[in-house]
Amino acid sequence: MTPPSSGSLSPTGDSTQPTPRSPAVLPAVTRGATAEENSGTAVRAVQGREGGPELRTDTSHRQREHALEGQVPPGQSHRPDAIAAERAASTASELPRHPSPAPPRNSTSGQGTNAQPRPPRRSLVRRIKERWRRRWLDLACRWRPLSGLHCLISGELSREAQAMLRGRQRHLMQLEEAGGEAVLFQLRRNTHRLEKGLIMRPRRPQFALDYIAETVASFEQSVADATGGKEVSPGQQDDCQTLRWARDVLGDYFRVVRRDAMLDGLFDRYDAARQRFDDSLHTSSEAHALTPYRRDLQPLGVSIDDFERLAWRRRSVRWYQQRPVPREVIDRAIRIAGLSPSACNRQPFQFRVYDDPALVQRIGAIPGGTAGFAENFPGLVVLVGQMQAFPLGRDRHVIYIDASLAAMSFQYALELQGVGSCCINWPDVESRERQMAEAIGLAGHERVVMLISFGYPDPDGMVPCSSKKPLHSIRSYNQR
Ligand SMILES: Cc1cc2nc3c(=O)[nH]c(=O)nc-3n(C[C@H](O)[C@H](O)[C@H](O)COP(=O)(O)O)c2cc1C
Repeated sequence: MTPPSSGSLSPTGDSTQPTPRSPAVLPAVTRGATAEENSGTAVRAVQGREGGPELRTDTSHRQREHALEGQVPPGQSHRPDAIAAERAASTASELPRHPSPAPPRNSTSGQGTNAQPRPPRRSLVRRIKERWRRRWLDLACRWRPLSGLHCLISGELSREAQAMLRGRQRHLMQLEEAGGEAVLFQLRRNTHRLEKGLIMRPRRPQFALDYIAETVASFEQSVADATGGKEVSPGQQDDCQTLRWARDVLGDYFRVVRRDAMLDGLFDRYDAARQRFDDSLHTSSEAHALTPYRRDLQPLGVSIDDFERLAWRRRSVRWYQQRPVPREVIDRAIRIAGLSPSACNRQPFQFRVYDDPALVQRIGAIPGGTAGFAENFPGLVVLVGQMQAFPLGRDRHVIYIDASLAAMSFQYALELQGVGSCCINWPDVESRERQMAEAIGLAGHERVVMLISFGYPDPDGMVPCSSKKPLHSIRSYNQR
């Protein structure tokens, strides 16, 4: 890898990313101070530092972080002295000789006098309230029934609990009525379990006995739902992917399992449904069976350096060019996101993409964390979790985990296509939830996980340095 010349380094430590140089661009960025983890209270200044001098320092700061970690930003020399030289060079060439003085310490406006302002006085009532709140918190976190009482009184978890219960109710109702997406969710989960049984070492002669009848019933039902006894048109073929997977895995299962009378009966039912399904498809044979396989272990041609460079390059981009991102680009990124791991391969989320400017404006303004920059979003994703995928409350967190894993891949896939993005927090605030439900037509069992803005980065827009924690503070081995 060729080290880039120090002068061309951007704040991300990336040699090709455009580096904002002119102070003339700064006022636009300073506007972007935004509320992030917000319910309107926790305000985090995303930008608004007074420009260039700090940016240059950030460049060297990132290199210093690498040096401290014993790591080297990809594309740069491994020698610490090279990092220091890089830093000195960029400092010498781009830092003003006399950085503007820091504002007086006690000044909020940055133009204050040396007079010591008095700390704001809280009213007596407020202080008493705060003290009680603190006492109650100490108590409530010590004893679980009191924690429950706290949630009941505060209503803090009520919307989430309701969505979870609605999801569960919908799931069970659809299973009872043998129709709807819950059957497909169940089929996906069980097909996944069968595949795990198939790859088990050593494989047991009989397995999945406690759920194979349920799986065959879901397969029969899903075939009936999908085909209705008719042919599946080529346009619908993609929707049958779950059925293809289940068909092939069930086929493998019945081939290898030691059959008894019960399994023979289930095989006959499976085979009849399979026949119906195959007859309804236009293609009679498919190239690959969707069953367990040995991975190709040939080197990929994508090195860890490549990946690290990508990770350094991706930053939360908040300023975009005013031109649309082609849908092929977005869809490709979502297809890649869809390859992410998910619990029992259920994939209980949807990327709802908005590229209609009026809708983007409306939806982008709902979360508070977009204040100051929502107006320039060319596109927006609302990542929605589907609680109806789960019959049990214990899995209530899975939508957030699965959707977030997919979100990360989505952002990397966008980045590799030249498209910047930024996650947007979705705080659990009733009024905003109502607005969002109305704006995008959310059902009661669906939960917003986060929003993601995207677009081609404005070369004049800056990104925060967003320094990362050092390795030792996020990693431990064998901790007990
Ligand atoms: C779940 C989540 C919510 C976020 N919400 C917001 C937000 O509301 N507004 C915003 O400007 N940035 C938001 N961000 C972006 C973070 O500020 C950003 O990821 C973080 O500062 C690290 O910077 P980086 O993404 O450039 O590495 C969010 C990020 C995540 C993962």
